[in-house]
Amino acid sequence: MSSQLQGKCAIVTGAGRGIGRGIALELAQRGAQVLVVDMDGEAAAATAEQCGGGASGYQLDVSDVHAVNEFVASMIEAHGQIHILVNNAGINRDAMLHKMTDEQWDSVLAVDLSAVFYFCRAVGTHMREHSYGRIVNIASASWMGNIGQTNYAAAKGGVVSLTRSIAKELAFKNVTANAVCPGFIETEMTLSMPEEAFNAMLAKIPLRRIGHPEDVARVVAFLSSDDAAYVTGEVLTVGGGFRL
Ligand code: NAI
Repeated sequence: MSSQLQGKCAIVTGAGRGIGRGIALELAQRGAQVLVVDMDGEAAAATAEQCGGGASGYQLDVSDVHAVNEFVASMIEAHGQIHILVNNAGINRDAMLHKMTDEQWDSVLAVDLSAVFYFCRAVGTHMREHSYGRIVNIASASWMGNIGQTNYAAAKGGVVSLTRSIAKELAFKNVTANAVCPGFIETEMTLSMPEEAFNAMLAKIPLRRIGHPEDVARVVAFLSSDDAAYVTGEVLTVGGGFRL
């Protein structure tokens, strides 16, 4: 089965918990060696241990450009080739526009957009040299616009545009880039929502359940595989049909 990932080396950011952990586990289950990145080093190590298959965990702030460049260079040196990059690390700092602080704006743009650029530039340059690569960036259905999320929606909209541009730029080098937009997925990010908002979101989902990290992970694994060799520049929502 070509959706298997034996012999592939993958970086997954924000994989200490939630959707990122689900992605790391799914890629590992399909045979990839996973380099697990998270701000929380212990969580990264725990995910790596669960992955097995030569996985290792690294503490890294993805919004620190120097740290990202150093990390990617050292991983290329250690592993020879990085085949898959999944930019998943993300934060939200929701507030209505009139109450949003500079700090809320800057922190979300730094982690959710600039960091994606840093990793895509560092790993994409390497993939270009090797004429092979699969980049999957985790955006959000909120990229279309959402109340209380001007910062988050702007960052995720930026991720979509960045991904489509990379897809155009690197297609001739056999590097694909796609964006996945999770809808409403059960993680610490969503479980911290007020109950009323949580139930209101649930009511909008035709498939009548909240999504699970594995629902997103299986789609990411497909896009990371050679089954998706002819798919690039796409923006795929994984949301139980809530945009219908
Ligand atoms: P989460 O909050 O459960 O996990 C995020 C992980 O990223 C954590 O382990 C955290 O330590 C790590 N992280 C945060 N800032 C970091 C930094 N500067 N450097 C390195 N690691 C950092 O989040 P969740 O729900 O798993 O979300 C994952 C991705 O999916 C995010 O990009 C989020 O925006 C996106 N998403 C999630 C949805 C959901 O319903 N849960 C819906 C739409 C998008």
